[in-house]
Amino acid sequence: MTILERIDALRQEKDAVILAHNYQAVEIQKLADITGDSLQLSMQAQSSKARLIVFCGVRFMAETAAILNPEAKVLLPAAGAGCPMADMITVEQLRAFKAEHPGAPVVCYVNSSVAVKAESDVCCTSSNAVKILQSFPPGQTTLFVPDQHLGTWAAQQSGRQVIVWQGFCPIHQWGFTTAQLKVLRKKHPGFTLLAHPECDEDIIEAADQVLSTGGMLKYVKQKDKLIIATEATFIDYLRYLYPEKQIVALNYRARCQNMRKTTVQHVLKALEEEQFHIQVPPDIAAQALKALHRMLELST
Ligand code: 13P
Ligand code: SF4
Repeated sequence: MTILERIDALRQEKDAVILAHNYQAVEIQKLADITGDSLQLSMQAQSSKARLIVFCGVRFMAETAAILNPEAKVLLPAAGAGCPMADMITVEQLRAFKAEHPGAPVVCYVNSSVAVKAESDVCCTSSNAVKILQSFPPGQTTLFVPDQHLGTWAAQQSGRQVIVWQGFCPIHQWGFTTAQLKVLRKKHPGFTLLAHPECDEDIIEAADQVLSTGGMLKYVKQKDKLIIATEATFIDYLRYLYPEKQIVALNYRARCQNMRKTTVQHVLKALEEEQFHIQVPPDIAAQALKALHRMLELST
């Protein structure tokens, strides 16, 4: 039996569903039952009836799935797959931030710890951040954690006022420069630039469309010539899906090392050993669930 056949047999036998984030390696996306962005995968995890959810992504995504679907056993195949942005604010720092701005509601990007979600009023992802901010009345200032770039962009788009935490994604913040963009624009005139909202303001300003990875997947269908500013493994995936299109990464070296930790062997091991089981303490999970539920209510 090949490794893929063993994975298939185990997924049947153990009643498992394999979810993969859009930044996962192409071979993982190919074996997954469901692929998507953070919001799409959260919703899929919530509604899944499978006994096991194998979450090919990073820890905060698997934790979110575990909170939204306590009936399922959620597995993270690569135990060390974290998100540096999620570690840029602790619950103590969030409490201090709230104390500096009494009464201001907190919007928390899902790229955060469970404890931070539990201290927040509502979560958001890159695909619904604008909608979530618009749910607050104009004139209401909210605190936005941890991503300064998503918070700033979503505030501009929604016409709401936010005070942002100074967190960022190292891949999106340091991976792209306007100098690289100038070179590519010259080389590929007429290409459409898509940027993820975690990018720096100068890249966002230059972009034709600012989209989540799920939004990009949809948008790519309409265009044949694109430059994309986001994690480069996702561009590998788009090129695999659309070999006939001209899809160029703003930087092929902008890769999330945490997303790359999951291998096909890890997925097999996860199914064989039912590892690594993601468990969230029930009291924190119950609090975080309120912020996640509020997000899902506002997203539909
Ligand atoms: P998406 O929700 O757009 O897939 O983004 C998740 C992420 O971690 C981006 O760095
Ligand atoms: Fe976190 Fe950035 Fe990796 Fe997304 S790409 S998981 S924000 S480190």
